[in-house]
Amino acid sequence: MATAIITGGSSGIGLEFAKALASRGLKLILVAREEKKLQQVCHDLAEQYNVDVRPVVADLSDSENVETLVDLIGRAKDLAYMINNAGFAIHLMADDNSRTAHELQRGAMNVMAYNVLILSSAAASLMKRRGQGRIINIASTAAWTFQGNYSAIKRYVLTYTQGLSLSLEGTGVTATAVCPAWMHTNFHKSAGLGEPSIPEWLYVNPIKVVEQALRAADKGKPVVVPTLRWKIIIWCLAHGPLALRRQITRVYLGSGNYKRKRRSQAK
Ligand SMILES: NC(=O)c1ccc[n+]([C@@H]2O[C@H](COP(=O)([O-])OP(=O)(O)OC[C@H]3O[C@@H](n4cnc5c(N)ncnc54)[C@H](OP(=O)(O)O)[C@@H]3O)[C@@H](O)[C@H]2O)c1
Repeated sequence: MATAIITGGSSGIGLEFAKALASRGLKLILVAREEKKLQQVCHDLAEQYNVDVRPVVADLSDSENVETLVDLIGRAKDLAYMINNAGFAIHLMADDNSRTAHELQRGAMNVMAYNVLILSSAAASLMKRRGQGRIINIASTAAWTFQGNYSAIKRYVLTYTQGLSLSLEGTGVTATAVCPAWMHTNFHKSAGLGEPSIPEWLYVNPIKVVEQALRAADKGKPVVVPTLRWKIIIWCLAHGPLALRRQITRVYLGSGNYKRKRRSQAK
């Protein structure tokens, strides 16, 4: 049976990918930092789906750990899915010049951008030899707004993955950037933040995100924005005036709730 590697597979959207692929009978390798939680998730999935689930404890903000994963990919000869999903919220002002901010930003770029590049290319080169495989990279609808480095990183994932998808044409291997909107996961909580106070209808269900992501990957689509309502919103942002995107970001960043959180993260 084929193997799927999922970074950030212990929680939220990564855990939903793990469940969906385990239910298809795939062997899983899940990567995350928190060992106890990861072990428990692997144990539960293995029991529930009767598949082999292997934990790999690694902090992907440390670029040396990425090379360990590259070796792991090289040995996974039956790799069918590489899902670059690990990530976290950054609620810093774009011009924060503190040492803490520098470290957080470097970690964010390693986890959500550099790793995506290195692990995608490692997976692509292996999968091309087999003539099959799916690379799924988690971007965000934030790629169409201007929320500082987080938006810039997610735009990077979106652009890089589209380039990768083009270079893989005709090989049997596909690359798909998935752009979910807000979800009720541990994303905000693990950054020590509350969930944004936005209308509930703007949230998307991680199970739906995973269903649509896997379907898009099977069809070889380079980009998917899950749910119809978010496809429409993103179409308007992408084709509307730039001023609209600036204003939407301004409103979101200027909301009392968001300001309060940013102040507390800066302490
Ligand atoms: N939730 C949203 O509103 C939303 C919206 C759009 C896009 N996204 C994107 O969706 C992806 C998944 O987020 P989520 O919402 O599912 O959040 P989540 O529930 O907090 O899950 C994040 C996962 O990433 C792992 N992770 C975080 N930092 C890591 C590191 N340095 N090294 C290794 N693993 C790390 C976490 O495990 P450990 O903490 O144990 O390491 C966890 O398994 C992220 O890329 C995020 O940017 C989220």
